[in-house]
Amino acid sequence: VGPRDLVGRRVLVSAGGTREPLDPVRYIGNRSSGRQGVEIARAAAARGADVVLVAANLEVAAPNGGRVVHVSSADELQRTMLAEAADADVIVMAAAVADYRPDAVAERKIKKDEQGDELVLRLVRNPDILRSLVVARRDGQVVIGFAAETEGDRERLLELGRAKLARKGSDFLVLNTVGWNQGFGTERNTVVVLDRAGDIVAEADGSKASVATRILDILR
Ligand code: C5P
Repeated sequence: VGPRDLVGRRVLVSAGGTREPLDPVRYIGNRSSGRQGVEIARAAAARGADVVLVAANLEVAAPNGGRVVHVSSADELQRTMLAEAADADVIVMAAAVADYRPDAVAERKIKKDEQGDELVLRLVRNPDILRSLVVARRDGQVVIGFAAETEGDRERLLELGRAKLARKGSDFLVLNTVGWNQGFGTERNTVVVLDRAGDIVAEADGSKASVATRILDILR
């Protein structure tokens, strides 16, 4: 039996990747499986926390324990996160949010015989959910953001992370490298956690479950 050091803490976790609809049957998505966020939710529940998992198109099963709210688009994710944040002591924004969405959703299926050889999509920026959670943050609430970068070099990764931290204003930022065969969708993860000052407070390399444990240890 592990530690029950999160009893009484209300932990809100987002996981997965958003899908931005194009028409009733198509979307623009990303390759996030939701594994890391799900492992964080699972580990937090095992340590006694009251967990709400906001799940965006998970490729893995949601954990037992805690409540699960299913969402799909960034817009739904934002509305749900802002509503649930009111009752959270800790917010972990692990979901991969689409930066852009189609500016309009076609009411009927887009047809190639109507479009011809080329189809031009116009995309508009999605809101920054993490930033809006930081803006709405209550006293004592801890907000943890993630940063997935395709930069391999550690110094460059830290530099990007510190700049992102300043922009987002979260209490912590979990930095990880992603790529075709790394991070997204895989079983293992390598992360560096920065605090508000940009200092390294944790590092982990291993299964997503062990990385989750290490991330939650920063709450002690
Ligand atoms: O800006 P970037 O996507 O690199 O930031 C990553 C962090 O911000 C993650 O925690 C992600 O969940 C969050 N994010 C967000 N809303 C967006 C884009 C990212 O909350 N539109």
